Amino acid sequence: MRTAVIGCGYVGLTTGLTLAELGYDVVLVDTDKRKLSAVREGRSPFYEPGVDELLKKHFKAGTLRTMDDALEASRWAEIVFIAVGTPSREDGSMEDRYIREAARQIGRSLKSARGFRTVVVKSTVVPGTTIGTIRSALERASGKRAGKGFGLAMCPEFLREGSAMQDSLHPDRVVVGTLDDRSFETMSKLFSPLGSIILRTSPTAAEMIKYASNTFLATKISYVNEMSRLCEKLGVDVYDVMEGVGLDKRISPHFLRAGVGFGGSCFPKDVSALIHVAKGLDEPTPVMDSVMRTNDIQPRHLVDVLERMLGTLKKRKVTVLGLAFKPDTDDVRETRSLPVIKALIRRGAEVGGHDPKAALNFRTIAPDMTFFDDAATAIEWADAVVLMTEWNEYRSIDWGQHKYLKAIIDGRRTIDPSRLGRIKYWSMGSPLP
Ligand code: UGA
Repeated sequence: MRTAVIGCGYVGLTTGLTLAELGYDVVLVDTDKRKLSAVREGRSPFYEPGVDELLKKHFKAGTLRTMDDALEASRWAEIVFIAVGTPSREDGSMEDRYIREAARQIGRSLKSARGFRTVVVKSTVVPGTTIGTIRSALERASGKRAGKGFGLAMCPEFLREGSAMQDSLHPDRVVVGTLDDRSFETMSKLFSPLGSIILRTSPTAAEMIKYASNTFLATKISYVNEMSRLCEKLGVDVYDVMEGVGLDKRISPHFLRAGVGFGGSCFPKDVSALIHVAKGLDEPTPVMDSVMRTNDIQPRHLVDVLERMLGTLKKRKVTVLGLAFKPDTDDVRETRSLPVIKALIRRGAEVGGHDPKAALNFRTIAPDMTFFDDAATAIEWADAVVLMTEWNEYRSIDWGQHKYLKAIIDGRRTIDPSRLGRIKYWSMGSPLP
């Protein structure tokens, strides 16, 4: 099967590699030529375990190719995936200009295409976009009708950064939202080798499944963070409490880790986008509003406790370990480290930062702070440390050798407190110090 993927971001590249692993021919398309040439050399534009190796393997085998022209790629492919970005606008709404442009190019290719072609939306788009904006752009540019002249499906992506290939190759479910049987048959055939449940639904329900899933997970995290602040004051540990809560099969033990809140390119963006959709429908969203509010409380709460532990933050040197929004990624979008660092600076602290992979990306958004290349020097410099990202290398730090270090706050339950000696330590969700 000949497939093309428009957009070489997280979703696009992972989709392309998954298709290649399944044995299909894949063309990757992006307007950024530098990105494409890096990809051809087996260098992913972002850090993600396993991706570079798979790129090398499939370019060598000839299963993967690149093109910088969406029109040419869609003329060649039988199935075209739209995987371009849908970032947030200032007001929280979804920016749809990249998907409109991709749909227009694909539509032009459909005009002269022989045989049945299927267009698949992989980007996260607000409910109604596939049968609205995307279908109109495709039909206008092609002069054909969706479902008759070409197939149209919406297939949301559920991968997590840091385990993207694993998640894509072993999904809990494949959701196929389509109005025509032929597109569903094509998608079933394409994805059946994954061996996962394939759920057929409508395009708008598929779009909503993605937003509703992310909103549910974000809600779980904000719920546990609210419980966490209560537990801290009640003198119990929220991790003990959630062990008991998570044993209930209806709840499950996943996504019950309390800490400094959720970041990344998805949860904050998707919850905001759904709130925006609801506003347009004149529906109140008290649950989602509180999810976002709780997520803003956690970084401030961490800094409040550090201030109490040190007496004052004025002129205190504080090192932030971890700048990526989570481990195993160099992504700093909506990272919780940024509000923590800003609050520290506002309260008079000098801030140092370290991250094994994300320091370069963080520099582009960083306020006035000092960067360190290695964690040991960053800790040696500091009066206090705030651990923000649970990178594995932070688990083996020899804290005892840092004579001047007075306090540590663990925002991600990573450090073993039995190895700290005289250093004051507090982990979010444990009784307040
Ligand atoms: C998330 C979803 O998990 C994926 O299913 C979805 O496909 C993706 O968004 C997307 O929409 O593209 P991702 O943002 O990569 O994936 O990362 P997660 O592992 O979900 O973590 C998100 C944030 O929540 C991180 O900042 C993490 O530290 C935080 N988190 C996660 C917690 O604070 N506690 C938890 O228990 C779990």
